[in-house]
Amino acid sequence: MRIQTYDQYQAAYQKSVEDPEAFWAEIAQEFQWRKPWTKTLQWNFEEPSIKWFVGGKLNITENCLDRHLATRGDQPALIWEPNDPAETGVTLTYRMLHEQVCRMANVLKRNGVVKGDRVCIYMPMVPELAIAVLACARIGAIHSVVFGGFSAQSIADRINDAQCKLIITADGSYRGNKEISLKGTVDDALIGCPTVERVIVMTRTRTPVAMLKGRDVWMEQELKHVTSDCPAVEMDAEDMLFILYTSGSTGKPKGVVHTCGGYMVYTAYTFQNVFQYEAPVGERAPVHFCTADIGWITGHSYIVYGPLACGATTLLFEGVPTWPDAGRMWDVVDKHQVNVLYTAPTAIRSLMGFGLDPVKDKDLSSLKVLGSVGEPINEEAWHWYDDNIGKNRCPIVDTWWQTETGGILISPLAGITHTKPSYATLPLPGVQPILVDENGKEIEGNGVSGNLCIKFPWPGIIRTTYGDHERCRQTYFATYPGLYFTGDGCLRDEDGYYRITGRVDDVLNVSGHRIGTAEVENAINMHTGVVESAVVGYPHDIKGQGIYAYVIADQFPDDHDADLTKRDILATVSRVIGPIAKPDKIQFVSGLPKTRSGKIMRRILRKIAEGDTGNLGDTSTLLDPAVVDEIKAGAL
Ligand code: WT7
Repeated sequence: MRIQTYDQYQAAYQKSVEDPEAFWAEIAQEFQWRKPWTKTLQWNFEEPSIKWFVGGKLNITENCLDRHLATRGDQPALIWEPNDPAETGVTLTYRMLHEQVCRMANVLKRNGVVKGDRVCIYMPMVPELAIAVLACARIGAIHSVVFGGFSAQSIADRINDAQCKLIITADGSYRGNKEISLKGTVDDALIGCPTVERVIVMTRTRTPVAMLKGRDVWMEQELKHVTSDCPAVEMDAEDMLFILYTSGSTGKPKGVVHTCGGYMVYTAYTFQNVFQYEAPVGERAPVHFCTADIGWITGHSYIVYGPLACGATTLLFEGVPTWPDAGRMWDVVDKHQVNVLYTAPTAIRSLMGFGLDPVKDKDLSSLKVLGSVGEPINEEAWHWYDDNIGKNRCPIVDTWWQTETGGILISPLAGITHTKPSYATLPLPGVQPILVDENGKEIEGNGVSGNLCIKFPWPGIIRTTYGDHERCRQTYFATYPGLYFTGDGCLRDEDGYYRITGRVDDVLNVSGHRIGTAEVENAINMHTGVVESAVVGYPHDIKGQGIYAYVIADQFPDDHDADLTKRDILATVSRVIGPIAKPDKIQFVSGLPKTRSGKIMRRILRKIAEGDTGNLGDTSTLLDPAVVDEIKAGAL
């Protein structure tokens, strides 16, 4: 399954295009199936309907856990590094992880969860989070992990959309020097969630919490009542494995659905190949450290499922890169002799700002591969990472993908593909990218740019958006008929290398977090004093993109009130979505640049937010061109 030379990559790529079914069937055979599939792929992008390994039966946890017990039962599967370096961490071998997953799965069963039920997980980055995810998969419950930074309202929206029966949470979480309440937020959310019958609460911070009789139970208590015997439930390859909500250009986040068979095969294959991960039985397995939160797809695919399916040792870090000081990431690498470090450009840029002192005395010699994900990596950050962390001896893999793609689509293979700073380079085997113009016409040749689409399914592709298949079709398959549209702009250089240039829709990428402008606008508009708002992104040195909000207030505030109102707006956005969606800049305006048909001309607002007011292009179609001068004059 592992490609080892560039020639092998080219051969694999060619085979994957000429005979995709044979290509993926051969890879899928390396896993443990309860029953083989009868047809490798059935698809059309019109409905869309995509089925991989049709009729195949399996359980992903048998592949991630049971399968390894005989050969690597005593090998570390999961290393947990707590927020506070003074607290003792945890190392779970495959045998221990297997046992704990089985116990947790039995706790879920005890609390009424059966195959097909949706379970919400709102947890800190502790081993129990990974265990909860796998416990759901063990019994065929569909997990919906909600990132621990989201608000009560966001939790409630997600729970209601998926009709979750149960939620797993903790009393609170630690992040740097902060202690954050989780159960309190869940309690607020559940006021509006009639489908939730049970709350399982883990003890982490020992903060006092309300425990409702008949609804809330302690995880530690529940675990006392179960055994570690829990046979895995047989799943169809196309049964749902999980739902993960992500933002789009419309207001409501959508529940991206991934299924058992294809997702397993794709995350394992990409994990092994992109990071060139090899764990020979009986030797120390390389330590893979992905710094994402399990609340995002990166954590699902490259902390939990991909690494475990490959028998890897995966590191789960509860803390933040800058606490107790800006050397923490390097301490973690040093302490656990990390071999693969997979992080986001935002983290690199923020750590760059602290200079080289925090890196100085750290032993980073264990590092072999560096990864980047979530947003375009600028050349300066790429070189800093290469020079100071990889010491120019570790290949950097700039991995491009999305929640909807399940796993990495365009990326170098570490040490195999020639890299270029800021380029995701070449498609992985099985991935057929195509650039199209506004009208959907293919842009052929090299040295061109356009909208990035994929023309053939890969096993990890989105199957539907939960409860609303039409929305899935509309969003991804209708813009350019016959193609999966990514929403990204892309350049293909003279060598055929791909460079992702950023979203071409109304989606922002703030510190690697995906946020819809409409979502932020809706939140701002919920503030009493706000009449209307328009949100755009602008280049931000550390975050990649910052959030710029133009707000029409019912009374144009004077300087004193403006400060207060801004704070209230921020508090409102935090309440409605979460702190990650708070605008960096708020400008009060008396009007927005609209066309005669009432459409906001975001292009103009984007230019002003970027500080590029010299040439705003054609404004003649505006209803009231004067409003532009006022906005320009007041720009922040
Ligand atoms: C969007 C997907 C799955 C990765 C985590 C984010 C942007 C992602 C790169 C990269 C340039 C990137 C794209 C994409 N993006 N990786 N290596 N270079 N841009 O997943 O939240 O679903 O966001 O992140 O714009 O569409 P996500």
